[in-house]
Amino acid sequence: MIIPKVSVVGAGFVGTMVAQRIVEHDLAQVVLVDIVEGMPQGKALDIAQSAGIEGFDAKIRGTNDFSEIRGSRIVVVTAGFARLPGMSREELAAKNGQIIQSVTEKIKTQAPECILLMVTNPVDVMTQLAWKVSGFPVHCVIGMGGVLDSARYQLFLAEELGVAPREIEALVLGGHGDSMVPVGRCTTLKGVPVSQLLKPERLRAIIERTKSGGAEIVGLLKTGSAFHAPSAAVFVMVEAILRDSKRVVPASTYLDGQYGIRGCFIGIPVKLGAAGIEGRYEIELTAEERDALRRSAGLVQKTFKELHIS
Ligand code: APR
Repeated sequence: MIIPKVSVVGAGFVGTMVAQRIVEHDLAQVVLVDIVEGMPQGKALDIAQSAGIEGFDAKIRGTNDFSEIRGSRIVVVTAGFARLPGMSREELAAKNGQIIQSVTEKIKTQAPECILLMVTNPVDVMTQLAWKVSGFPVHCVIGMGGVLDSARYQLFLAEELGVAPREIEALVLGGHGDSMVPVGRCTTLKGVPVSQLLKPERLRAIIERTKSGGAEIVGLLKTGSAFHAPSAAVFVMVEAILRDSKRVVPASTYLDGQYGIRGCFIGIPVKLGAAGIEGRYEIELTAEERDALRRSAGLVQKTFKELHIS
């Protein structure tokens, strides 16, 4: 059996955890790339040394050389700065934009056939940038945001309702984080909309907590941002693509008219399979949700324009 290759660019907290999850599940062989000399090699070796204990066969190696990503089915991009307390997503965009531009150029040269899975924040803007720089087809460039926002929403709702998080079905669209758009009708406990189970003010408070879910963790960690749940979200997306499972998840994709939005990456439900994004779904929204989604897309477009990429 030929085991697929997945490269992870950025061997920081998120990248390392993504790599670890992938090899521990024997899903793919992993190449971990970073600009810091010795660091990806050291981290990859450390993970590899757990193989005998964990019982996995998948190989992992670290490198500073982008030519080693050749032949990757998927390249996960986590390179860049994590948000610090008080830093806005716009400030982060300016810093990470330069890194994503240079990393994408290298990926385009070394792995032109790959599916690009973007994680670096602000993810919708960075995904749009990577798409533009790479020239890859739309279905090959995906941003991870909605799976994480939905999981955060799921947890907070589950805690409030006293049930297991997996009993909650939660759908979150729009930009990742602050400008996300929860879809009321599609957020249920075993099919019952949570709006029927919670007082409106409690539901509003949970939505607000979910929106600032990333910032809450940044505030607590002080020197970095979330990586456990983000890496879990990346893992399910990588798995869906490699196993061609046709899972439907919210993810950042290019809209060309859906939901009345054109020319921008934003989170909507997509079908993930071997070709990357194999379907994009337009679900019915209330007027309020539709407006919120358009506002969210407007913010992505504004931040992208401020990067001054022609
Ligand atoms: N090429 C390769 N790696 C790079 C480059 C580059 N040009 N520039 C920076 N990196 C690496 C850094 O050396 C660092 O090891 O990216 C890594 C980022 O790791 P962390 O600082 O630990 O950040 P992390 O918590 O992993 O978050 C990475 O994911 O969730 C998002 O908001 C988060 O944008 C952030 C990204």
